[in-house]
Amino acid sequence: MNTIITGLQWGDEGKGKIVDYLTESADVVIRGQGGNNAGHTVIAGGAKYVLHLLPSGILWDNKTNVIGNGVVLDPVGLVIEIERIEAQGIAITPEKLLISDRSHVVLPFHKELDAAREASLGDQKIGTTKRGIGPAYADKVNRCGLRMADLLDREFATAQITRRVAEANEVLVRYNLTIFEASQVIDEVYTAFERLRPHITNTIPVLHAAWKSGKNLLFEGAQGTLLDIDYGTYPFVTSSNTTSGGSCTGSGLPPTAIDAVIGVCKAYTTRVGSGPFPTVDEGLSEYLHGLGREFGATTGRPRGCGWLDTVLLRFACMVNGVTGLAVTNVDGLDAYETLQICTGYNIDGVVHTLPPADRSAWDRAVPIYETMPGWQSDTTACTEYTQLPAQAKAYLNRLSELCGAPIAFVGVGPDRVQTLVV
Ligand code: GDP
Ligand code: IMO
Ligand code: MG
Repeated sequence: MNTIITGLQWGDEGKGKIVDYLTESADVVIRGQGGNNAGHTVIAGGAKYVLHLLPSGILWDNKTNVIGNGVVLDPVGLVIEIERIEAQGIAITPEKLLISDRSHVVLPFHKELDAAREASLGDQKIGTTKRGIGPAYADKVNRCGLRMADLLDREFATAQITRRVAEANEVLVRYNLTIFEASQVIDEVYTAFERLRPHITNTIPVLHAAWKSGKNLLFEGAQGTLLDIDYGTYPFVTSSNTTSGGSCTGSGLPPTAIDAVIGVCKAYTTRVGSGPFPTVDEGLSEYLHGLGREFGATTGRPRGCGWLDTVLLRFACMVNGVTGLAVTNVDGLDAYETLQICTGYNIDGVVHTLPPADRSAWDRAVPIYETMPGWQSDTTACTEYTQLPAQAKAYLNRLSELCGAPIAFVGVGPDRVQTLVV
């Protein structure tokens, strides 16, 4: 059984937690897109792990984890992450972590170019994570990127980096940003690369062999559908296909290998960074932040919070081909008296049940709400779906009905064990 786990909102839906939970019955966990802009939190056995580039299957013994060709990989960031996770008692061996030789390298100046671009946009800035994701993907598409395989040939990579550093400096100098010294960049990248070298391989035949021998593959999406470069709230998006198709192009496994797509969403909506967010609600944001919830795992920024938006979810279920929903953070609404569900947008007097493409239409979108009673009881100790209060089940049923996909999992707390199977 090969399953894609994908985010249905603006990221941070709880993908990491669901992937970790499902890894128990999987053999291989694969990241196919994004980079260390992702921040996936897993809480298990009393410890908290925050993963950026490492697949969330890394916490389990005897599982293979793959960083696929579609990922943009910051070697310096990955080494720091490996050391941090190893310090938490998780060994990361070359058998346990495979890195695609086709993955593109995020170089130190990509991060600075990311900052320069944001500065140039002023109040139109994207609010990126400043991890160099956009500039690295731009180099990839512009056919001037460097891949992990290229670093194996130091002479070639040195010439390439030297040229790219000179080009980057021309931009950076205009913004009074840090100028790079090619030799320093090369040293920094190669120090990290030497730690990663034993992990680098052609991951495509490895994944095909696993597929053909009937192993269970789990694909871990990063970001979410509304951050997808094609389907998201462009230009306030990330630079990869975060939707299910990205797992195939980002791993070398074809669509015919996929058996199921689990779409992860929160029981409400959150967004970090700029861009449209029709159902944002100040009261709900203050309430959740007051509980210490909804601060970004990568940048620590408070996430904007709002009501469940089924316009987004309906679209996300369509473009991802969702076969089952994992609704997380149901417990976040435990104390709320009355809940709102957005069923459509009113844009200039016309009701829309799918998101618009036109960016100015987003600004005129007025959510149409349906009101539902809250359950006002603690769900965090529930161990079976049937134990959920009737109003919580009614809310989930309505969500499922409006999105057109069945509910497969429900999250009632951040711990691995607080996952209910429907
Ligand atoms: P990801 O990027 O999709 O993996 O999600 P993040 O880890 O960035 O953000 C999700 C946050 O919600 C993290 O702090 C998780 O520990 C937490 N979380 C996930 N599922 C649940 C849940 O069902 N209940 C609660 N209370 N927290 C959850
Ligand atoms: P996970 O995998 C939430 C957002 C940024 C910004 C936009 C572009 O944890 O769900 P980028 O650095 O990618 O160029 O930023 O995308 N963003 C995320 N928001 N969760 C993420 O990842 C995100 N990765 C990027 O905040 O709005
Ligand atoms: Mg996250």
